[in-house]
Amino acid sequence: MSSAQSEILGPDQAGTARAAELLRMGALVAFPTETVYGLGADARNGTAVANIYAAKGRPAFNPLIAHVASAAAAQRYVVWNDLAEVLANAFWPGPLSLVLPLKEGHGISGLVTAGLSTLAVRVPAHPAAHAILEALDGPVAAPSANPSGGISPTTAAHVLGGLNGRIAAVLNDGPCDVGLESTIIGLAGNLPMLLRPGGLAAEEIEAVLGRPLITRDATDPLTAPGQLLSHYAPDSALRLNAQAGEGDELFLGFGPMDCDLNLSETGDLAEAAANLFGHLHSLDGQGRAIAVAPVPHHGLGQAINDRLQRAAAPKS
Ligand code: TXA
Ligand code: MG
Repeated sequence: MSSAQSEILGPDQAGTARAAELLRMGALVAFPTETVYGLGADARNGTAVANIYAAKGRPAFNPLIAHVASAAAAQRYVVWNDLAEVLANAFWPGPLSLVLPLKEGHGISGLVTAGLSTLAVRVPAHPAAHAILEALDGPVAAPSANPSGGISPTTAAHVLGGLNGRIAAVLNDGPCDVGLESTIIGLAGNLPMLLRPGGLAAEEIEAVLGRPLITRDATDPLTAPGQLLSHYAPDSALRLNAQAGEGDELFLGFGPMDCDLNLSETGDLAEAAANLFGHLHSLDGQGRAIAVAPVPHHGLGQAINDRLQRAAAPKS
C-alpha cells in the first residue's frame, strides 16, 4: 500500500476535470453516483482496471459495470436491441445496468468483463459522475469503492476509510441519494432477466416491459452478480428479522420502534435504502452484534433484503 494520501476533489468543474484527467492517465478515482460511490478506471486501459482489482482485493472473476455518459455512448461498446432501447428511454440516466453482447471493436479491457462475451453498461444520473464521463468521453469501469466484501460506500468518508492511499483521488459530493447499487437486467438472452435487485424496483421495470422478469436459477454458473454469498459484510455479526436487540446487540430498526438507529421511522423503503449502508457502517466496528428488524420484500425491499442476507451470511 502506498503511504500517500488520496486527493480529495470537489464536485465543481475543477474537480470533475481533474478526475477525468487522472482517469485518462490510468489512475483510480472514486466518484459519487446516485447509487453508491464507484471506484473508477478507464475501461479501455487494462493496467488501470487491474489496479481496481488490486485496490479492492477483488476476486478476478467478478466482472465490472462500464459507466458511460449516454445511451449513444453505450452503443459504441454493446450490441443494442429493442428492449435496451425501451429500458434506456424509461430509466436512463439512473440506477439501472443493462447486460448486452459486446460489439466487435469495442476496445474494452477483458479484465472488465472477466472474459465474458457480454458487458454491463450504465448511464448514472449523478451530475458529477455525468460531468466526469463527458469530460473523459470514454467508458469508466467502476465497482463500488470499498474493499471487496465490505459494506458499500455511500459517502466519501466511507471510501477513504477503506481505500485511502490506495487510490489517486476521491470526488466528494456528499451522501448518495439511492444508497443501493443499480438493478442489473440481462438482455443478452431470449428473455429479460433480473440479475441483481437494486436501486430501481423490479416492479417498475416489469411495468414498462409489460411482462415479468425471469430470475436466475441459483444453480446456474456464476455469470450473474451477487455470486458470492457473503458480500456487503460488516465485521459484526448480523441477526435478521429481529423484533428487538437482545443482550448486548445493537438494534437497527425499520418503522416506528425503539432502536439504536432506524432505517426509516415512517417505514419508507426508499429512505431505508438510502440509509442502509451508512447505518451498517455506523453500527459496525463497535464490537457488538447487530440485530435488524424485518423489512418488507416488495419494491426496493427486495434489494434491501438481498443485501442484508448477504451481510448476515457466514464469511467463509
Ligand atoms: O450502482 C452500481 O451498480 C455501482 C455504481 C458504482 O455504479 N456499481 C456496482 O458495481 O455495484 P459492482 O462491481 O459492485 O457490481 C457489479 C455487478 C457484479 O456483481 C457483477 O457480477 C455484475 O455486475 N456484472 C458485471 N458485468 C456483468 C456481465 N457481463 N454479466 C453479468 N453480470 C455482470
Ligand atoms: Mg460492490
